[in-house]
Amino acid sequence: ENAALLKAIIDNAIDGIITIDGRGLVESINPAACKLFLYTPGEVIGRNISMLMPQPYKSQHDEYIARYQHTREPHIIGIGREVTGLRKDGTTFPFRLGVSEVSYAERKIFTGFIHDLSREKEAEEQLRDYA
Ligand code: HEM
Repeated sequence: ENAALLKAIIDNAIDGIITIDGRGLVESINPAACKLFLYTPGEVIGRNISMLMPQPYKSQHDEYIARYQHTREPHIIGIGREVTGLRKDGTTFPFRLGVSEVSYAERKIFTGFIHDLSREKEAEEQLRDYA
């Protein structure tokens, strides 16, 4: 029952929520994240999270995760970062990324929270054009 409530919360969240395993493979993706990236869950689950980002991050993301696991020194975890996402149609969009590490059933997974910044960035650019 508690699990059903949590699922309902995640399914109805406004922000995208994606979980990955320690190697960066996607374990879950909520409807908001599917809508942002234009993928269905079946197209993403089991694949590397790097499929959702442009270069040079795409080629380096495995190393980012590995470095964190060796050094335990966070660069995004607990801090957040403005990054660029890559949609299925090849277009990109800016978002605020929050990452947390979760210990669950004697395993460590990472949860990513994705807050779309497209509208804010567009408004910023329009203001810049007027100036
Ligand atoms: C680290 C980019 C999505 C999990 C990083 C770093 C970058 C990055 C640049 C290294 C930061 C540094 O060393 O200064 C991106 C981009 C994404 C994305 C462009 C766009 C899709 C995600 C998602 C998750 C995630 C959705 C989790 C579900 C991690 C982890 C680390 C990391 C665990 C290492 C820990 C840390 O540096 O704090 N990412 N990331 N990333 N990312 Fe991502």
